[in-house]
Amino acid sequence: MNSIAVVGSINLDIVIRVPRIPQVGETIHHGTIAHHPGGKGANQAVAASLAGAEVSMIGSVGMDTAGSELLASLKAHNVDTRYVSRITSTHTGTAVITVDTNGSNSIALAEGANAAIEPGNVADAVAQLAPQAILCQREIPDSVIATAFSRRNSAALHVLNVSPVEQISNIAMDDIDLLVVNQIEAKQLIGTQAGAMDAATTLAQRTRRGCIVTLGAKGLVAQIDGHKIKQPAYSVKVVDTTGAGDAFCGAFVTELLETQNPEHALRFGQAAGAVAVTRHGAQPSMPDSPTIRALMQTA
Ligand code: RIB
Repeated sequence: MNSIAVVGSINLDIVIRVPRIPQVGETIHHGTIAHHPGGKGANQAVAASLAGAEVSMIGSVGMDTAGSELLASLKAHNVDTRYVSRITSTHTGTAVITVDTNGSNSIALAEGANAAIEPGNVADAVAQLAPQAILCQREIPDSVIATAFSRRNSAALHVLNVSPVEQISNIAMDDIDLLVVNQIEAKQLIGTQAGAMDAATTLAQRTRRGCIVTLGAKGLVAQIDGHKIKQPAYSVKVVDTTGAGDAFCGAFVTELLETQNPEHALRFGQAAGAVAVTRHGAQPSMPDSPTIRALMQTA
């Protein structure tokens, strides 16, 4: 089994399903509520574990009930939680998510413990684990990501999902093997409007191996190891898009380690994301490997 360390956020998701997402100053009635384990890091860790990797989570939660429940969910998905610290100074990360009847969402996040991850602990964890891949997202401080990706700590494949997007300030781009962005994130990173493939090419040149630009219902484009790749999306019935990007990232990295075939691994990641949007919630929607492969065979 290939080993992946996910360095990232762990959140409690409070999800309210509403007829449509409220605008500023507006209240929308007739919602239903659910609480789910979430956080881009934890979701990607679960996705990778279900896809077949040996996964360790590196992060931080509070000493509250939510922290205990989120750790239990990770353990239930066979994710190693030895490197998740529990801190008393703040609460567990919490996201308030509204989802409309089209499955679109808006997310407000209180980072809490995710913002208090100690870079020193991350460096120690990465050194002890020596994983084959390190997967990060942007719900934790850039200084933590920079530590995780430092070539001094590991020779692993370094994958950064630039979500949510903000300019990357303290992370050396040449410490990153692969970037995963959506089209909006790509535009913000480049600073100008560019076609998706041009954006993938431009961003790929800043990394060691490449860049993937996901396009939702339009599929994805990528440039990896100098090869341009363009793939359509799977056609499925969407109920909730929350966590689809996380399903993609966790499954893609897992299959890339397994096959060393970027084009196939991207297809596998896309199928994982496609299954995820047919299910409610983020972490509860992550599919296992047989389900992903079943969709790949029917499409
Ligand atoms: O990508 C989905 C995730 O974003 C949710 O689980 C929520 O916690 C936010 O971090």
